[in-house]
Amino acid sequence: MRFYRDLGLTEFYRRPVDPALLVRMPAQPEPIQEPMSSGELQSSNPEDSPIAPRKPIFAPPQAAAAVPASGRVAALQMIRDDLGDCTRCALHTGRNKLVFADGDPNAQLMFVGEGPGADEDAQGLPFVGKAGQLLNNMITAMGLKREQVYIANVVKCRPPGNRTPEPDEANTCSPFLFRQIDVVRPRVLVALGATAATYLLGARQPLAGLRGRVHPFRGTQLIVTYHPAYLLRDPRQKKEAWADLQIAMKELGLKPPAKS
Ligand code: URA
Repeated sequence: MRFYRDLGLTEFYRRPVDPALLVRMPAQPEPIQEPMSSGELQSSNPEDSPIAPRKPIFAPPQAAAAVPASGRVAALQMIRDDLGDCTRCALHTGRNKLVFADGDPNAQLMFVGEGPGADEDAQGLPFVGKAGQLLNNMITAMGLKREQVYIANVVKCRPPGNRTPEPDEANTCSPFLFRQIDVVRPRVLVALGATAATYLLGARQPLAGLRGRVHPFRGTQLIVTYHPAYLLRDPRQKKEAWADLQIAMKELGLKPPAKS
């Protein structure tokens, strides 16, 4: 099945993931937006430190009270209305469409990315470009459909040239993301990449130290993995991402779908 091959996996459900199984990786690494700063974090992996050093990262606000399932659509609409035609940070100047979110307001699984790219900016939906195709494949490999999960980003407007959002931009936008998380209150929240992990947790930490385990977070279980755009650039890391997704699946009680 294509999504297993895209994840670099075959027959993963019969035995533990093994590098020997990593066959037929997509051969088209795409340039990724992450101009890597020298960063405060000493790491050999550039995915670890995309965010400018020294500028403050805000701590997450206190979690809001749970919203009953019947009220979530309206509660999310209220957040969207509060955003309005947002001009709170400089990113609005280059925006075509504000990218709020996509998916099921009652999802058990939520993904958080960094910010819209060109395709997302044009369509007003998160993860609809090449990285989105890989994310869709990852979701399918988990035995879910995209419509069953909820997807949002740290910033809701496209950074110019797909650069990493500046801390002031992310700090301005992330309160809306926290409100979305508090409304959806997924059982599992997956941070895609270092930018998502940094602004969710409110601290710069190497991705390597965050991956591979569950972080209890705002009433959900947070799992940190690589950003799909990074996986397109370095497909060898897909097996690591798949290991992270398997942790998410275990938390959700999911088994990979049978091979057809
Ligand atoms: N990358 C992201 O982080 N988010 C998107 O919506 C698309 C690409």
